[in-house]
This record gives sequence, C-alpha cells and structure tokens, in this order.
Amino acid sequence: MTVRPAAQDALKRSAAERAVRFVESGTAIGLGTGSTVRPLLELLAARLASRTLRGVVAVPTSEDTAHRCRALGIPLVSLDEYPELDLAIDGADEVDPRLNLIKGLGGALLREKLVALAARRFVVVVDESKRVRRLGTHAPVPVEVIPFGWSALLPFFEKLGASPALRRAEGGAPYVTDGGHYVVDCRFPRGIKDPGALARALARRPGIVEDGLFLRMAHVAVIAGAKGVRVLKR
Ligand code: A5P
Repeated sequence: MTVRPAAQDALKRSAAERAVRFVESGTAIGLGTGSTVRPLLELLAARLASRTLRGVVAVPTSEDTAHRCRALGIPLVSLDEYPELDLAIDGADEVDPRLNLIKGLGGALLREKLVALAARRFVVVVDESKRVRRLGTHAPVPVEVIPFGWSALLPFFEKLGASPALRRAEGGAPYVTDGGHYVVDCRFPRGIKDPGALARALARRPGIVEDGLFLRMAHVAVIAGAKGVRVLKR
C-alpha cells in the first residue's frame, strides 16, 4: 500500500506526539535525526517553553538536529558531559518484530548508535511503513567507512551477499558524514537472514567505522498507523 506523503507526515506527527510523553522533567535525553524526529523536536520545545517540562537537556545525534534544537531553544549538552542518558528517542528505516532496526539513511548512524547505547531507555519512533518481517526487505544497511581505500571494501560486502553502492551527495561527490566518513549502502536483495552474524562480520573489518544494524537496542517502539498509535516493548 502506498501512503501519500501528507498522510505519512500526519502519521509521523502522531508518533512524535506519543513519543514526547516519554520525556520527563529533570532528565538528560538523546535526540535522533530525521523527518520523524523533527515534529518531536517542535513538541518538546513547546513543552519546555510552556514549562510543562523543565530541566531537560539534550544530546543531539547530528549537526542537523543540533541546529534545529538551537533554533527551537532546546538546551544542548555533549555526550562527554552526560555519558549516561535517561532516554534516547530516534527514528528508524526498518523495525522488525523483535525491535531490531536498520538506521542511517539520514547518515547519522554513528552518533545515533553512541547516543542510543548511552541511554537507559531507547525509544524508536516510526510510521507503520517502517515495519518489516525481515531486516533488509526495503532499506539497505548503511555502512560508515573511512574514505581511505573505501572501494577496496566492496568485494568484502559482496561476499557477505550485499549489493554495495557508495552514497553520493547532490552533484555526485561522495556523501560525507558529520564524522568526515563515507557511507556505503549495502542492499540485500532477499533481506538479511542472520543480522547478528552480519553485524559481527562488519564489526571485525578494518576500515568500517560503524554499521546501521541496531540489534537488541530499542526498548520501545512507537508505531503510528492508519488505525492509531501502538507502543510495543521488547
Ligand atoms: C538518520 O541517520 C536515520 O537513522 C534516521 O533515524 C532514519 O533514517 C529515519 O529517518 P526518517 O524518520 O526521516 O524516516
């Protein structure tokens, strides 16, 4: 089923409205990146401005989110200042029935993973188009790599069953992450049979900085669909 963009935006907003309720006064939180998090930032800023919420500080997962937070007046701190967070809220590109995720189509996977790992509770916020039975069904796995010798990694990705493609920015130059790395998007034509084995293989390979498989990390998924918003727990 194709969801119209306006309808999908409405679902993202509904998911964000539910997710912002996880934020409590006096907490340090991680704020994700992407189009589902954007309405959440606005809702959070409105609650801080009305003092419905007080004393919240946030670690942004990207320069884009940091910029938006500053414009909205959300107080920012660094992960060095707050290495333990009460909560992280972020979007995802795919969510499987065990709440395993693919993330990073927005390019912020490295900081997103660090922030999610630092959080006692990680809430993922999505519309229902992101739900899959098997990871890799729709989205590629983004793999952040160092620019030096990136193309030497391509046969390695192919041996793992992927069709790899360097992500490019508008104009054709390689897309560069906030950390100064490239991203290779690895498509798995039949989905990923064993995400854990894939994550282990990627983690062992020099030149790979991080991958977009977020396995056993999300505690809660807030999923907005045509029939309403569901909250799933792992
Ligand atoms: C950013 O790097 C990603 O991990 C996003 O969280 C993910 O791509 C979801 O983005 P949307 O909410 O825009 O779909």
